[in-house]
Amino acid sequence: MHFAGQHILSVNQFERADIETIFAVADQMLPYARRKRVTRVLEGAVLGNMFFEPSTRTRVSFGSAFNLLGGEVRETTGFEDSAIAKGESLYDTARVISGYSDVIAMRHPEPGSVAEFASASRVPVLNGGDGANEHPTQALLDLYTIKSEMHGRGGDIDGLRIALIGDLRYGRTVHSLCKLLCLFQGLEVHLISPPELRMPGDIVETMRSADHKVTETEDLEDHIAHVDIAYSTRIQEERFGSREEADLYRGRFRLNQNIYTQHCEPNTVIMHPLPRDSREGARELDDDLNDNPNLAIFRQTDNGVVVRMALFALVLDVVEQVDRDARDVNWYTGSRFQ
Ligand code: NCD
Repeated sequence: MHFAGQHILSVNQFERADIETIFAVADQMLPYARRKRVTRVLEGAVLGNMFFEPSTRTRVSFGSAFNLLGGEVRETTGFEDSAIAKGESLYDTARVISGYSDVIAMRHPEPGSVAEFASASRVPVLNGGDGANEHPTQALLDLYTIKSEMHGRGGDIDGLRIALIGDLRYGRTVHSLCKLLCLFQGLEVHLISPPELRMPGDIVETMRSADHKVTETEDLEDHIAHVDIAYSTRIQEERFGSREEADLYRGRFRLNQNIYTQHCEPNTVIMHPLPRDSREGARELDDDLNDNPNLAIFRQTDNGVVVRMALFALVLDVVEQVDRDARDVNWYTGSRFQ
């Protein structure tokens, strides 16, 4: 794929070679994201960061990634603060904002909305999540994390054994991740969810067509026993008809230190796209795992910046220029990154 000027809307756009390109550029971004070096390659460029659904890490990491390349960020959050609340169409909003920006990141509650917006945009649009449909940049950062965790254990993505746990029906991160995993070979995938919240059938079929061994189950303890990655997800309350309906499933599959010690292999990596629901009654990923060295959730969030920097550098075609005119940072940066 030729990245310059392209929208990033779905993981279906990628071939395996594209993933390798993105990950190689992400590696190149590490010194900048880890606060060792500074680059101003996107000085003067503007990111339109448009988030019409709640977000902390995706919104802030898109913005930070752009800032770390030297660019500036203009932001809109929520419908109520934008002209969409006055009835403006996605088409008009896209025409307007793309006149003010060089690239746009967008999150919206309707499946397909970011693609509709992109078709009217005059600049590249990166999908930050469109309803329950897709979250391609999250899937890329998840895969980048899986690759680096497996590398540290002498393994690889091909042949990976992974359990995906929780709300697989509405969780867009696992939808995109499963599609992306179809570019790799010989995976064993355990889909652990209540029957009502199963992974959509077309995605399961796509994985089986890719020759992956896929099991759908309600049995957490047996199916986390022999996996490299246990990927937990939050019940996507906002996609249910009511809070009461979401309550039926909240807390159904809990991973905590005790369950981990009893059932998982000692090296199993624990992942979650975050936010985890830490309220009593939910706790799908318990805080008592915080000191477990295999808990990769904050390595995932750190990797979000690296991967998003790579995507900006690729779609704005500055990869070759990033290291030019770079310098070391001149402030105290500590040792906050693992
Ligand atoms: C996820 C999302 O928004 O889909 N969060 C994120 O972007 N890291 C997962 C979630 O909200 O549960």
